[in-house]
Amino acid sequence: MRRFWPLAVLILLVAGIWFWLNPPRFWLNMTKRVEPSPEVGAQLVEKYQCRRCHRIGGEGALKAPDLSGITKRVDDPAHVTLRLWLRNPRAIKPNTAMPNFHLSDTEIEAILLYLEALDEAEASQ
Ligand code: HEC
Repeated sequence: MRRFWPLAVLILLVAGIWFWLNPPRFWLNMTKRVEPSPEVGAQLVEKYQCRRCHRIGGEGALKAPDLSGITKRVDDPAHVTLRLWLRNPRAIKPNTAMPNFHLSDTEIEAILLYLEALDEAEASQ
């Protein structure tokens, strides 16, 4: 039995590197599950520092598009494009400067709820 140890360690190491560099979706959904709401979305935007590049709700840098009105700009009520974008920006635009934050599905929902709430507030002003 003893000589299988190196192999077991190697497999764990390879799996560890894989999950770290390119975590699969089921793993993200297990480890980064949140209860989607605009408030949680606001916290996630802080956590991942989206405002380092984007202006969101009138605050933040303009190194990337201002996200105000983003949930209304495209005629896609289900936000399929935005969901795909947040999942993996480079899958849509290979040379984009936006990093992949390895967001879980519920994190993406929460961020969209927050962006939608901002856009609704803006529209009703
Ligand atoms: C390092 C800078 C950077 C950070 C941090 C960043 N983004 Fe981006 N993002 C970009 C760039 C640049 C684009 C424009 C896409 C392009 O042309 O490459 C973009 C595009 C987008 C778009 C699509 C905008 C449009 O007009 O179609 C959304 C939505 C978005 N980002 C959301 C986010 C969210 C949410 C976060 C935080 C989780 C975030 N971004 C963090 C750089 C960034």
